[in-house]
Amino acid sequence: MKGIVLAGGLGSRMFPLTKITNKHLLPVYNEPMVYFPIRTLVEAGIREILLVTGGQNAGDFLRLLGNGEAFGLRQLNYAYQVGEGGIADALRLAEPFADGSPICVVLGDNIIEKSIAGAVEQFCKQTDGAHILLKEVPDPSRFGVPAFNNGKITRIEEKPANPASPYAVIGVYFYDSTVFERITTLRPSNRGELEITDLNNSYLAEGKLSYSVLDGWWTDAGTFESLLIATNLVAGSLKKRQDAEESTASGATILAWS
Ligand code: DAU
Repeated sequence: MKGIVLAGGLGSRMFPLTKITNKHLLPVYNEPMVYFPIRTLVEAGIREILLVTGGQNAGDFLRLLGNGEAFGLRQLNYAYQVGEGGIADALRLAEPFADGSPICVVLGDNIIEKSIAGAVEQFCKQTDGAHILLKEVPDPSRFGVPAFNNGKITRIEEKPANPASPYAVIGVYFYDSTVFERITTLRPSNRGELEITDLNNSYLAEGKLSYSVLDGWWTDAGTFESLLIATNLVAGSLKKRQDAEESTASGATILAWS
């Protein structure tokens, strides 16, 4: 399976922070935002990765990421999105890279606590179609939201005023090779974008969309509020890991003395 990180768009919701840099280069606690979606893919065993970006600061990604050495990669691939045509428009650019392989797409502003290796494994067993991940959230109106009937998704609505469920469709998506053909059938939404939700609904219409519920915390970092939440969650996780490492180390010291 190949991985794609979508880090295009103009980040206009975060002006003036994004006036002179790309949203995905902003810090989330101690690392640039784009490190998180790349690590999500690498930790799930996906090592062939394409980063799609755009705007005036695209060159900064090369300076920051190079060939992906910081993630143990031999090579990192890049594509450039002209304008801000939407998530599905950015994904369109991955067609030559995917070259018929199944893909895992991660939005560049999505930060996930735990590994998605289980979902990768599950999708590898699925012969075709798409797979999405859901997470219960307090503010579903900000996201793509599924409606259910007897545990089955009946439709997904993008940023509904009256959400049909408390779940958000998070920014990690698995697609088979029909994805690029489907993107050509999409029409721009009211906000002038090719929507990932319309793409997911095209699989749903054919009964080819499965889902699972994500374990651990998840947040986007694409607004001032959610960037602050992401920063605090990352700082909290890091502290927990350091505390655990320290107590293991002091346990080892006691054992060495006894
Ligand atoms: O975070 C999950 C949500 O992401 C989903 O629940 C929604 O269904 C989905 O539409 C998306 O919602 P947002 O409105 O938060 O998406 P946003 O416009 O912030 O774009 C998310 C990422 O996608 C962004 O960090 C970079 C990439 N992107 C976005 C656009 C508009 C591109 O690469 N190119 C683009 O043109």
